[in-house]
Amino acid sequence: MSESTDVQTLLKARYGAAAPTPLTTENPVISTLLQHRSVRSYTPEPVSDDVLDVMLAAAQSASTSSNLQCWSVVAVREPQRKQRLAALAGQQRHIEQCPLFLVWLADLQRLDATGERFQLRREALDYMEMLMIGVIDATLAAQNAAVAAEALGLGVVYIGGMRDRPEEVAAELGLPPRTVAVFGMCVGHPDPEKPTTIKPRLPGAAVLHRERYDPAANIGPVDDYLHIANAFYREQQMKTNGNWAEHSLHRVRGPEAMRGRDRLAEALRARGFPSR
Ligand SMILES: Cc1cc2nc3c(=O)[nH]c(=O)nc-3n(C[C@H](O)[C@H](O)[C@H](O)COP(=O)(O)O)c2cc1C
Repeated sequence: MSESTDVQTLLKARYGAAAPTPLTTENPVISTLLQHRSVRSYTPEPVSDDVLDVMLAAAQSASTSSNLQCWSVVAVREPQRKQRLAALAGQQRHIEQCPLFLVWLADLQRLDATGERFQLRREALDYMEMLMIGVIDATLAAQNAAVAAEALGLGVVYIGGMRDRPEEVAAELGLPPRTVAVFGMCVGHPDPEKPTTIKPRLPGAAVLHRERYDPAANIGPVDDYLHIANAFYREQQMKTNGNWAEHSLHRVRGPEAMRGRDRLAEALRARGFPSR
């Protein structure tokens, strides 16, 4: 997707002056990972079932807790259904526009139903740990699928908006109890008229701790990042709520900032997920 596949160039785009020296300059997997940027505009070209199969195989190749494979995915192509899902996610236009919309689920129902068929105990399904396993498994699978899609020249964007109104999303997709949408993912061929850019991240020093966590260690790197992110916002003419700190804190200012997700715990309980 990027003009350059050179790892050093990509690291510069990701970190600016804080870019580390690359171990290798040419590696197709590392290049694909570093080239990631969310894509929200697509050409009308469909995403074939062959591509979907590759994404699925990549997803299923991810590690999964104890091989339980507590996730599923719903592939949506039907325009009216995408339109309704877009409305449930705060009218995000890219959900309607993308040719393929994937909804990634934490799925404990398959284990539950298997236990029932074979008359096997399954009380642990009622514990928070199992929801965590479902969410982790779904996330690892989705990210593998995203990388596979990007390696094939497609663009993706995750859609956390699938958690804004979880009961209505569940009804739209016919989800059984003990399943919940963790996030969606728009997939399509990037529109060349609307090119996207690599978004800088925090310097590695803000997130990497050696041996023991040091809360003070991220102060300097965060301050550096405010300048890097500001320059990026200006260059991209991005509308933000102030600098990165103000923008990020605005997002967590209170339940009113959560677009309905402040009642997620309640919605999860209603869908048969645990409180223990
Ligand atoms: C779990 C998750 C949920 C997201 N939800 C949305 C969303 O609902 N709408 C959207 O436009 N972008 C969404 N994004 C994309 C992020 O905004 C994006 O990844 C972030 O700004 C970094 O930009 P980049 O992916 O281009 O590097 C989501 C990303 C993740 C990981």
